[in-house]
Amino acid sequence: MPTLSEQALLRSQNLIDDRWCDAGLGARLPVADPATGETFANVPDSDAGDARLAVDAAAAAFPAWSRRPARERAQLLKRWHALILTHQEDLARIISTEQGKPLKEARGEVQYGASYVEWFAEEATRICGDIVAEAVPGRKLLVLKEPVGVVAAITPWNFPLAMIARKIAPALAAGCTVVAKPAEDTPLTALALVWLAQQAGMPAGVLNIVTASREHTPGVVDAWLADSRVRKITFTGSTPVGKHLARESAATLKKLSLELGGNAPFIVFEDADLDAAVDGLMASKFRNGGQTCVCPNRVYVHDAVHDAFVERLAQRVGALHVGPATEEAAQIGPMINARAVDKIARHVEDAVARGARVVTGGKRVRTGDGPHYYAPTVLADATPAMELSCEETFGPVAPIFRFRDEAEVIRDANDTPFGLAAYFYSNDIRRIWRVAQALETGMVGINEGAIAAEAAPFGGVKESGYGREGSRHGLDDYMHTKYLCQGQLG
Ligand code: SIN
Repeated sequence: MPTLSEQALLRSQNLIDDRWCDAGLGARLPVADPATGETFANVPDSDAGDARLAVDAAAAAFPAWSRRPARERAQLLKRWHALILTHQEDLARIISTEQGKPLKEARGEVQYGASYVEWFAEEATRICGDIVAEAVPGRKLLVLKEPVGVVAAITPWNFPLAMIARKIAPALAAGCTVVAKPAEDTPLTALALVWLAQQAGMPAGVLNIVTASREHTPGVVDAWLADSRVRKITFTGSTPVGKHLARESAATLKKLSLELGGNAPFIVFEDADLDAAVDGLMASKFRNGGQTCVCPNRVYVHDAVHDAFVERLAQRVGALHVGPATEEAAQIGPMINARAVDKIARHVEDAVARGARVVTGGKRVRTGDGPHYYAPTVLADATPAMELSCEETFGPVAPIFRFRDEAEVIRDANDTPFGLAAYFYSNDIRRIWRVAQALETGMVGINEGAIAAEAAPFGGVKESGYGREGSRHGLDDYMHTKYLCQGQLG
């Protein structure tokens, strides 16, 4: 357990209807140190019964919360935002301890997550509809935006604070109430965040959270899918789970936001600023040890600059400091668990067996500190036949594909069912517009590796999902449109 200046942030119970409570059946879920897999805390292992109680509370709280003036909802969110920043250091320590994110990055995640809370606090007061020019005399046509109702938020482990903040904040800003379930690997950050919302004065039932193991999660989620009071599900995670949610929510026709898997291309054209491209790749690929949905999974480098780029990249990657996440010097922490590190090792072995060359890394490291550390890796001579070209590696591995012309690289970049993010580096203004439009993704970084921001719409196309998070589009996803037609006014 991390030592904090506010120990009350370490919660070990669910919050339902403003009451911290254990799972109804008393089961517990161990929380493991990502470096070693050893248990250091435990939280409730909830089931369908707990999930339904959370919906009871959220449904009961909805009428009053949705009718509260937007400014009051905004003030509550602002108080929550201030508390998150006050506790930045403690929250960062919880993130590092349970997720393995280096402390410096974890501090950045707290600010990043808080920025969504602040943004949506401000947007809450700007929700507006339309008054439409009447086609028939004596009628008024009005369009209102209304909160959809109870929202179920199911969040991933890779950004244990930012992902839940960017789902809950717009939901509350819109006037929805929330039932949330954080990933089984990282429940402590989410519980701490919800405790801070309670300290900010969130009314009973507006925000509820239950934690559950991998085994019990289907029971919790199925209870929410079957419940017609849950009007929206917002999920970040794998494409197979997203498809399951889409199928199973059809019975009650819930609104869905799905932020699913990616397989991002990162293209370096021959006219690129190579140093900027290396900086961009370092930022986007090695952030969180490569465990982000938007991190480049395939790096395409033009033949004319290939060798120079690989050499500069390998120098930077080889110098990254791998170490326990809570050590200040760490730049790459442990991977989240054994499954994750095994998949990385499998992808590298498969690539090498099919002809890839290890330029740096390519092996497990610091095994004395735990079995889940993997060296930041650059692989040259990658080809589409390799597993890592079709599937997200979700680790610190940059495979380099050599290309010779623009049409070929666009075709290869788009040759995937996924369409979350893409990046490219070029200094040719005509090419920039051409390529940005040709890439089949929801987001494109142009000469930029760090693209996510609270004011920007985050989300994908194709099998990377639909719906947007952040920006005014992210608020719109928690509201429906109601049309009023008033007659007899002539
Ligand atoms: C993700 O990996 O799903 C989110 C990454 C981000 O917000 O930048």
